[in-house]
Amino acid sequence: MTKYFIKGGKKICGEIKIQGAKNSVLPILAACILNYGEITLKNCPEISDVDNTLKILELLGCKIIREKNILIINSRNLDSSNIPENLACEMRSSIVFMGSLLSRNKKVIITKPGGCKLGDRPIDLHIDALIKMGANIKFIENKIICVCDKLKGCVINLKFASVGATQNIILAACLANGMTKIINAAREPEIIDLQNFLVKMGAKVYGAGTNEIYIFGVKNLSKNFEYKIMPDRIIASSYLVASAITKGDILINNITPAHLPLNYFLKIGCMVKIHKNKVFLQAPENIKPIDYLETDVYPGFPTDLQSQFLSLLSVANGKSIIKEKIFNERYKNIFELKKINADIKISEDKKKFIINGVKNLKSSNNLITHDLRGGVGLVLVSLFIKGECVINDEKDFIKRGHENIVRDLNKLSADIKILDK
Ligand code: UD1
Repeated sequence: MTKYFIKGGKKICGEIKIQGAKNSVLPILAACILNYGEITLKNCPEISDVDNTLKILELLGCKIIREKNILIINSRNLDSSNIPENLACEMRSSIVFMGSLLSRNKKVIITKPGGCKLGDRPIDLHIDALIKMGANIKFIENKIICVCDKLKGCVINLKFASVGATQNIILAACLANGMTKIINAAREPEIIDLQNFLVKMGAKVYGAGTNEIYIFGVKNLSKNFEYKIMPDRIIASSYLVASAITKGDILINNITPAHLPLNYFLKIGCMVKIHKNKVFLQAPENIKPIDYLETDVYPGFPTDLQSQFLSLLSVANGKSIIKEKIFNERYKNIFELKKINADIKISEDKKKFIINGVKNLKSSNNLITHDLRGGVGLVLVSLFIKGECVINDEKDFIKRGHENIVRDLNKLSADIKILDK
């Protein structure tokens, strides 16, 4: 349980370096077990999702050395196929171990994965694809038991461009017999990072970043190599929101600008400058509303930024509409924002949010986090409010994705204190 005490009303200004991407490092950690050599991963964020994934790797038999943001992983002696229930339930991303463990050990026993509660999060696309590649999958009570002889390449046409399913198929296909083609693959930058990592390991993966990915199975993977995890585009965008909502200015000095939804920052009236891997943003005096914003698969607006923009548009000069198209229960922050006087209506199907921007938000000592990005959304709106807000992050959602949000924002002139229990 962590409580955040935020005295808002201060401009978020300054320069910041962004940590490595959570959604990149987690599948890459699962990919490490395909390799018999020693892997040095740099820029690994020190977040609780990484802590939990490392526990899974250790229980599987991997040797790990961790020195701050550097990890050295050796999976030569991996000898287990069991992902324990308590760890699988912690994170949705544990599901990508199915592809890599099946490939490595021909067997996986895993519990249905957990993660942030954003509504239904079925795994049918993962299961159907692995069955098509030759896996035999049984559901016994809450366990999923998968076995195979040798996975075989095939054509998989995803009915939805799922990030996790695309990653799982790539991992399963690296050591399979023959070629696997994924049609309607997810195009997120984290998929490109996974491909770059696998190619460095000696795998043959092509097409990441487009909607068709080809994987040519190889006999084995055994390399010693180094890889640096890409910076976190969601955190970079969240800190841009922090400056925008407080009339500040910020320089992000290590990000791929094309990964950020900068057009939406321009729409609200920010001045944005790009130079190589740096982005500078200066907030407007008044935030303009956005007529209509819908979340979508990449390169659409990321669902993982919806809560942060909900906070931002709550203080805009007029009416905005947000439609959440990816997750059917990513709306709970609305109830928290209402506690501080935000004017937001929600459609009956809970997908459309109509936001009338107001300037007189009041503080609250009882804001409650419902998921990681929603928690960050509450931090951001608290930075705007003159007065002290208290955010109760009972399940420590924010630490799942942020190394140290308090360190980062205080460096940018915020006034945040933290109480860990
Ligand atoms: C990943 C990200 C998460 C992000 C999400 C969407 C990681 C660790 N997590 O999650 O932060 O919010 O992408 O960008 O990278 N679906 C199915 N069947 C399936 C799989 C998914 O119906 O088998 C549906 C889900 O219910 C959801 C949608 O597809 O409605 C998106 O899910 P997906 O792209 O798979 O997201 P994740 O990989 O879980």
